[in-house]
Amino acid sequence: MSKLKDALIAGLVLLAGKRRKDPYANLPEQRIVEEGAPDRRAENVVLVLFAVVVICAVAFIVVYSFESLAHQTQYLGLAIGLAFVVLAAACIVIATRLIVTEELEEPYPDLEHPDESDAVAEIVEESGSRFTRKRLVRMAGLGAVGTLGAALITPALSLGPAFNTDKLKWTPWRRGRRLVDDAGKPLLASEIEEESFYSAYPEGADRELMGSPIIVVRVPLDELKTRHDWAPHGIVAFSKICTHAGCAVTLYRKPTFAPTQPRPALVCPCHYSTFDPAEGGKVIFGPAGRNLPQLPLTVDGKGYLRAAGTFNEPIGPSWWGVRRGRSVS
Ligand code: FES
Repeated sequence: MSKLKDALIAGLVLLAGKRRKDPYANLPEQRIVEEGAPDRRAENVVLVLFAVVVICAVAFIVVYSFESLAHQTQYLGLAIGLAFVVLAAACIVIATRLIVTEELEEPYPDLEHPDESDAVAEIVEESGSRFTRKRLVRMAGLGAVGTLGAALITPALSLGPAFNTDKLKWTPWRRGRRLVDDAGKPLLASEIEEESFYSAYPEGADRELMGSPIIVVRVPLDELKTRHDWAPHGIVAFSKICTHAGCAVTLYRKPTFAPTQPRPALVCPCHYSTFDPAEGGKVIFGPAGRNLPQLPLTVDGKGYLRAAGTFNEPIGPSWWGVRRGRSVS
């Protein structure tokens, strides 16, 4: 309570003090720093330089938003580099042409008294006497630094869609889509042999999409532990993109080394995450934090392998919220 009282009294004293008329207001001002001659030309140069900084920073943001632009990286480097160079030039012009400088022969004494701090503040204030449009220059400077700051944080947008994460879950797989090999030839269930590893893609879709490539293996029916209805004749399919950091799972551990490796397994060569195809792509070794997403399969009347839906989980490396929901087609 007493603290509140002290604060109220301090506030009142401050207000009263502010209202009190300064008895020295009409006396000639005692300056520490000699008044400098205005330099409008230098001011104009600074304003133009700040404008160029803004243009470069905005150019960086615009170029960054066009991913398909040729030589995008070079343009980005040019824009941000130029922005910093021009900003430095503006600072040099301000320091050399617009700030009144004084040179002391003696080194600055240590600031032991509050009066000396006030004197330093006054020196700083009075050093700007050559500016004729202080406010305009200040606003331009803030604009330049602000836009440059915005340009610097723009790349953070590439960390991923923060609110609309559905596009990370999209894949071209849907019910009825045939599996094709590297050459675009549809895969027959009868061609898939045990102890071998096949890459496949959705027929007619873009293979470059992260959700496109899959691995197909045939597991002996008596070894299949789960999701029998997703695996006709023991043939199972999984996303080829490792759930650890997104490398391609390109190894099939067969032959094995009994008793330490009882069954064949899918292996990612990057950090050796190992997945069990007989148990729904379960992680059995390595840093991957979740199972390989599985694609349910079916066989059509002509013996071709087709997707019976999309993956049971979002594909790709883990990111926050990945465990929520399924992939979408
Ligand atoms: S990316 Fe596959 S184990 Fe790290």
